[in-house]
Amino acid sequence: SLWASFVPKAQRANQNLQYQLQPQASYKVAVLGAAGGIGQPLALLIKMSPLVSDLHLYDIANVKGVAADISHCNTPSQVRDFTGPSELASALNGVDVVVIPAGVPRKPGMTRDDLFNINAGIVRDLVSAVADNCPDAFIHIISNPVNSTVPIAAEVLKQKGVYDPKKLFGVTTLDVVRANTFVAQKKNLKLIDVDVPVIGGHAGITILPLLSKTKPSVSFSDEEIDQLTVRIQNAGTEVVEAKAGAGSATLSMAYAAARFVESSLRALDGDGDVYECCYVQSELSDLPFFASRVKLGRKGVEAFVTSDLQGLSEYEQKALEALKPELKGSIEKGIGFASKQA
Ligand code: NAI
Repeated sequence: SLWASFVPKAQRANQNLQYQLQPQASYKVAVLGAAGGIGQPLALLIKMSPLVSDLHLYDIANVKGVAADISHCNTPSQVRDFTGPSELASALNGVDVVVIPAGVPRKPGMTRDDLFNINAGIVRDLVSAVADNCPDAFIHIISNPVNSTVPIAAEVLKQKGVYDPKKLFGVTTLDVVRANTFVAQKKNLKLIDVDVPVIGGHAGITILPLLSKTKPSVSFSDEEIDQLTVRIQNAGTEVVEAKAGAGSATLSMAYAAARFVESSLRALDGDGDVYECCYVQSELSDLPFFASRVKLGRKGVEAFVTSDLQGLSEYEQKALEALKPELKGSIEKGIGFASKQA
């Protein structure tokens, strides 16, 4: 299936468990920010899913053409377009998974935190509409700075009395996708075989690839570990600089987000073997939000994979301690923003 190409078999935890997918399109997915650089290719990839019956594309502008175009693909889902706040409630009605890539992207010289002032308000307003119209949905936050926008979303949902921490996700799949790619290149492994968990958050040093947990088991020199870690942490900036003002990662991001959507749909559909790294409310560290590998089930996060955090290398242990103050600050900034508005 398409999904098999998103999540290679080597990256599934229980390779013996044979989940028999009977592709039956029955899930509704909404993309908020669907006319953007990420939104368009993401909508196309979701249109390819055998599990989706309805694809709702929402944006404040330019989404009619995107929906008309994608709707001509002869895959199962019905595509509908929704423009502007007056159509947002209809876009969200009955939706199972809401994906939010709405907001501005980085330009050269900017950090993800520089986006806070614009994107914080966009995420607040969109999640508020999610709370009113599809409070049971899985919510996938892509808009940066993810380290802060997820805590904002949590606060908004709490204020509305519908917060389910198991169903709110910051999408960090791209960090895993990049880690897998760069490690495979460096070690001459087949891309499809490599799996590296990435923990922490989604910005700079808060992105911590656990190279010691790489599957298949490989050994790295100290220099390789440092080079790979820094490259994975700065991979977004690599793209921002190559695009020279035209935005940040959109195509690899769409691929990563589509993988996370497909994993969520498989989980909703009863596949008992779905594991993804994502940024969620967590008790794995002393921070309220933390990215790690989790098991996804029908109700969202079903379990945390605690073994990833055991037996870390000295390098990883140090990096974990070093990332905590920055991640803590970003979480507090998000919570502060949301409570000021309440
Ligand atoms: P873009 O500017 O190409 O597209 C953003 C879209 O959001 C536009 O179509 C715009 O009209 C729409 N939008 C703005 N305000 C809106 C609102 N209130 N409601 C609905 N739609 C609205 O930006 P791009 O490249 O698609 O990036 C989107 C976001 O994703 C950025 O914040 C970026 O930093 C983030 N990102 C996250 C990554 C991750 O790994 N989580 C990776 C790459 C980007």
